[in-house]
Formats: sequence, C-alpha cells, structure tokens
Amino acid sequence: MSWDGAFASRYDEWSAHMTEDVAFYVALAREADGPLVELAVGNGRVAIPVALETRRRVIGIDLSAAMLKQARSRAAEVGVDLDLREGDMRDLELEEPAGLVYCPARALLHLPTWADRRRTFERVAASLRPGGRVAWNAFAFDHKVAIALDGKHQARPVPHTNRYSVGDNRIDITLEEGGGTSSLWWATKNEWLGLIDVSGLRLETLDGGFAGEAFTDDSREYVFVARR
Ligand SMILES: C[S@@+](CC[C@H](N)C(=O)[O-])C[C@H]1O[C@@H](n2cnc3c(N)ncnc32)[C@H](O)[C@@H]1O
Repeated sequence: MSWDGAFASRYDEWSAHMTEDVAFYVALAREADGPLVELAVGNGRVAIPVALETRRRVIGIDLSAAMLKQARSRAAEVGVDLDLREGDMRDLELEEPAGLVYCPARALLHLPTWADRRRTFERVAASLRPGGRVAWNAFAFDHKVAIALDGKHQARPVPHTNRYSVGDNRIDITLEEGGGTSSLWWATKNEWLGLIDVSGLRLETLDGGFAGEAFTDDSREYVFVARR
C-alpha cells in the first residue's frame, strides 16, 4: 500500500488530533544513547519534535516519497536535521547500532502478516545497541467499535469510511475525496509479546496510554517498550 496518493495529501489533517504520543517518544529519545530511528516516519510529525527537543539527528525511514517530501520541508521550516531514507521498515539496516527505534501512530499495523512483523522485529533487534530500546503503540481491537463504524461515513478528521474484514483481521480506511485506501491489520497482546519473544528482546513496559496508564482489560491502546 502506497501512501503517495490521497493519504499523503490529507495526513496533516488526519493526524492533527494526535498529540499525546509526542511527549512519550521525546522522553524515550532523551534517555537513549546512540542513534534515534523512527520507523514509518511519515511527515515527521513526531520526528521533528524529537529532533528539536533532543538537539539530535533522527533517522526516519518511510516507503512513501510523498510523505518524506513533507517531512523534509517541515524539518527545514523549523531548522532541524532529519536523516530521511526512503525504504521499507522490514529491511531496516543501520550503519551504527541505535539507542532507540520507535514507531508511533500504530504504523506497525500497516504490515500485513506475522512474517512481515517478525522480520521487522528481527531487523530492529539486530539494529539496536545492547540495552537499546524499541517503542511502539497500536490499538487493541474492539469489536464494539468495529460494529459501530463498519461501512459508515465518518466526517472527521477527514471524510472517510472504515470497513472491517474479520477474517483477515484488517481495517480498510477509504478517504472519500481522492479515494485512497489505507489498510491496518490489527494484532493481539499475545502477538506483540510473541514478536518480542522471537526477536530475543525483553519486555520493559506495557502501558494502556502515553501517560503511563496501567494496562488493564479495558485498555484500548497498547504502548510497548522493549529492550535488547
Ligand atoms: C500513520 S503514518 C505514520 C507517520 C508518522 N510516524 C506519525 O507518527 O505521524 C504511516 C506511515 O507508514 C508508512 N509505511 C507503511 N508501510 C511501511 C513500511 N513497510 N515501511 C516503511 N514505512 C511504511 C507510510 O508510508 C506512512 O507514511
């Protein structure tokens, strides 16, 4: 799935309400020794404040040339240095092991299969310094939300329709203007724990939100930190 079309041109509006995660990822970046890497960096929404607050260069990897172009011009506007690389997070390879690899905005859910995610986690584990961290967030799938939203027009943040494929654990989000579709494949807590396990990482924290909320049966967001 390419983000070069309709989604890239509306991502600013789409993500305008997402602000809570920034301080969380900035705090982890401040604690990290070694290079900082954002997987699926998009338009730099998180990487730019991370670079500004830490005064360090952030390596940002993304498949979409259009999203990277936005990141480049936004970074130039505020005068920060991002090392933007067009590429696939499944093929992550760094010249120097990282202190922190992070993936905000549920972007790991764009990887369709267990094999894609396992490969990504193995690449992340191989790219971290000993003691380095990987952090990400993803929603916990809620059947009630799916039932309420399936096939219904949503006006905000950008007019769109969600369709749920239960058999493929997939959500297709289709924008009404421009018609681009972005797909997300949801994952359970055990899948995430399995990925940490098979890649030889160790779970540090699982929270239910970005402000350290306890993870409970009612949590709707997984906020994971794992260490090499
Ligand atoms: C929801 S945006 C996240 C952007 C940014 N990280 C943020 O927090 O706002 C998802 C991004 O994932 C990128 N993406 C999807 N699959 C990818 C892959 N396999 N490797 C690298 N980037 C990918 C898309 O191009 C898009 O820019």
